Amino acid sequence: MTRTPLEWLRYAVLPLALGVAVGAHAQDGGEVEVLNWWTSGGEAKALGALKDGLAEENIGWRNMPVAGGAGTNAMAVLRSRITSGNPPTAAQVLGYDARDWAERDALANLDEVAQSEGWDDVFPAAIQAFAKYDGHWISAPFEVHSTNWVWANKAIMDELGIEQPESWDAFIASLETAQEAGYTGLAYGGQSWQDTTVFENVVLATGGADFYRSSLIDLDPEALDSDTMIETFDNFRELLAFKDDNSPGRDWNLATAMVINGDALYQIMGDWAKGEFINAGLQADEDFMCFRTPGTQDAVTFNSDLMIMFDTGNAQQQQMQHTMARIIGSPDFQIAFSQIKGSVPARTDLDAGPLDACAQRGYAQVQSAAEHDTLMGSLAHGYAAPASVKNAVFDIVASFVNSDMPSDVAAEQLAMAIRGATS
Ligand code: BGC
Repeated sequence: MTRTPLEWLRYAVLPLALGVAVGAHAQDGGEVEVLNWWTSGGEAKALGALKDGLAEENIGWRNMPVAGGAGTNAMAVLRSRITSGNPPTAAQVLGYDARDWAERDALANLDEVAQSEGWDDVFPAAIQAFAKYDGHWISAPFEVHSTNWVWANKAIMDELGIEQPESWDAFIASLETAQEAGYTGLAYGGQSWQDTTVFENVVLATGGADFYRSSLIDLDPEALDSDTMIETFDNFRELLAFKDDNSPGRDWNLATAMVINGDALYQIMGDWAKGEFINAGLQADEDFMCFRTPGTQDAVTFNSDLMIMFDTGNAQQQQMQHTMARIIGSPDFQIAFSQIKGSVPARTDLDAGPLDACAQRGYAQVQSAAEHDTLMGSLAHGYAAPASVKNAVFDIVASFVNSDMPSDVAAEQLAMAIRGATS
């Protein structure tokens, strides 16, 4: 890369003056250790884009993968690393978790990078609300994912004459058609974070954006214990009839594989699922279909992976952290990463041309939802409420999935559990 004289001053002269061998990381094999939960085929490939970007800057890579979707296991490992005084160089986290670590004063300040790269002007307010804390940048946003997507096997749709469903009823009817023809209607992974990922889709489809916001973001007791919530659980129960018997415990990417392999018609999942289709060499709109969960077309429930860095007190580490943050926020990386990961860039100033058909629509939908105030944080993925609330919801929703709990009981328990988690 070419650097301006000023940049050279920043990269070479200043650190040398501090007695640090920088450009040094080039020769002495400095490396970063990055904790993450990107272990599926598509995820690991996307992470490779960061590893390659760092290699170009002569920074080595030590991967610290902790398998488990939505970071449920990774966050426990991160907590123990931090409390034992041995934090990694950086870690992938979601919204409220970033905020938690910032509150505890554990994070490095990335203002210098953010200022020189103009982050204030290119990342949307909804992301800045979590990527900054107390006016300071505390993380680098990788992308915007969203959770209200359906991934569909196009060959099954064509074979059975299924049109893209526009309403909840049409959605259910198409699942019935697939099931009657001997396919699994809904590829489903029975893990609590996946249960709630699907559940939040049903909340939005049943009650609309205002209801999603009042129940899952504002945690309004009236919305939580309302007839609309009971109806939500009824709709959820209706949907659960289309999963197969082997769903308990299934990883999300194995559920995606059921759609890819032609065993199942649909999966409701965040757009990281698209990373698996891409990794299998499949093309959006040709080999598989993507559409917003029927009834949620006007809204987007989002999450964004944030890279937080830890203040290790080591100047060489700090230099490498800054380089990593700069790479993650750069236009080229934002496009290249999302092309593999399935997401859309977090930056709003990019040409969507190089993205696939789903991501081009997704990028525009995120923008339009932001304008219409229907861009809302995903509860299952850490952007609607703090972890205590999220985990309380995980428990109730999983009990509902794994029993024949009636809808009114589930709504009542949900309201109670959230009250408990917030009091
Ligand atoms: C993360 C994605 C990840 C998915 C499945 C989400 O919470 O934002 O990056 O691919 O979990 O693990």
